Amino acid sequence: MSKVSIIVGLQWGDEGKGKIADFLSGDYDIIARFQGGANAGHTVKVGGKEYIFHQVPSGLLRGGKVGVLGAGMVIDIIALVEELRQLEGVDYDLIIDERAHLVLPYHRVQDARQEESGRGVGSTRKGISQAYRDKYARFGIRAGSLLDEHVLKEELRRSYEFNARYFTVNLDFDELYDILLAESREIGNFIGDAVSYLKDAVEGGKKVLMEGAQGALLDIDFGTYPYVTSSHTISGGALVGLGFPWKRVDEVIGVFKAYTTRVGKGPFPTELVDETGNQIREKGGEYGATTGRPRRVGWLDLVALRYSVWINGVDYLVMTKLDVLFGFPEIKVAVGYRLHGMEIDWFPASSHRLAHVEPVYRTFSGFDDLDGAREFISFIEEHLGVPVKIISYGMDRDKTIVL
Ligand code: GDP
Ligand code: IMO
Ligand code: MG
Repeated sequence: MSKVSIIVGLQWGDEGKGKIADFLSGDYDIIARFQGGANAGHTVKVGGKEYIFHQVPSGLLRGGKVGVLGAGMVIDIIALVEELRQLEGVDYDLIIDERAHLVLPYHRVQDARQEESGRGVGSTRKGISQAYRDKYARFGIRAGSLLDEHVLKEELRRSYEFNARYFTVNLDFDELYDILLAESREIGNFIGDAVSYLKDAVEGGKKVLMEGAQGALLDIDFGTYPYVTSSHTISGGALVGLGFPWKRVDEVIGVFKAYTTRVGKGPFPTELVDETGNQIREKGGEYGATTGRPRRVGWLDLVALRYSVWINGVDYLVMTKLDVLFGFPEIKVAVGYRLHGMEIDWFPASSHRLAHVEPVYRTFSGFDDLDGAREFISFIEEHLGVPVKIISYGMDRDKTIVL
């Protein structure tokens, strides 16, 4: 019997999706990424060894799996080749959808310049928004074009001229063309039609895990715009990003941290800028897996989570990093917001409004182990109306329990 599950982050990314995708991967044949690119940083720790995946799905380490890089992604081939070295010795196959767009070297340069100008949103500087910009402006280059030198040259000419005219290019045309040709030699065998591949696989009874990057609050439409990434990070993005019918999806798994973090700019109602925040950051190792930047840290926000649970259609929850909260004298959870003296319980669409809310907290006494956290967990389940089925309490694959 086939089975299709979508795993998504419910906060501002870094919820531990990579760890959970790896943990669950034993039950699946295929692990598919559906959006984003090298802006993602998914850490997996197995038997003391740490892996960081950016574009490759996290669930390939057990061996014998197929990784899919879907049409909704923007792929940096140079970085991908480098990343695949981590999988040396692991038996895997890979399919890059012909429809996925390429991140070109000048996209990264433009991203960095935008950030250096001070007008960026605190991006990862991987050229993500620039690659999506070219895609939507219809000047992008798709992975499939790497398979035909003539098509590649023609499309690159068009895209290059567009970028040279309106933005910045750092290489001359021939240099760039040569880079892409070299890439196509390295990766060409992996490029194919992931839509028909997934259709045949699912009809043949295979099990597919669709692994989201970033989190719901970074979604281009439903996140805290403009402080978001440039793709659909919510579960609906899996359908669009893989060309997959919703009727064949069995479940949506929502991953959240027992507290909240955010990297880059943008409103963050429960942010802690005090000693407690520093302690959580240090204990939780809250430094970016992609950029090394310290992550902003705050209490769990159930107003935001309730919104995320709805827009993703979450069937069950996975709570990560519960161990990080062990030993604090008290734990707070936002259950509402106050905005200009009025109480609201729905996550505002406007970042301007969100920047002015005051969280209304419920306080729990501290706990030192899973048993002590029972009341905290039940409260979250009741408030959100969905069960917590898996709890992660350490980096390693073993530090996970299924309730
Ligand atoms: P992702 O982007 O959602 O995959 O998350 P990241 O990998 O960027 O960030 C999560 C970090 O927390 C990684 O360093 C994980 O190894 C680590 N981690 C995941 N689950 C747990 C947990 O339950 N406890 C602790 N202490 N660390 C965890
Ligand atoms: P994973 O998959 C956390 C944030 C950046 C920035 C904004 C836009 O590891 O959870 P971009 O480079 O995408 O244009 O940056 O989005 N961001 C992430 N934050 N985790 C991520 O991925 C992120 N990917 C992008 O910090 O605020
Ligand atoms: Mg991450």
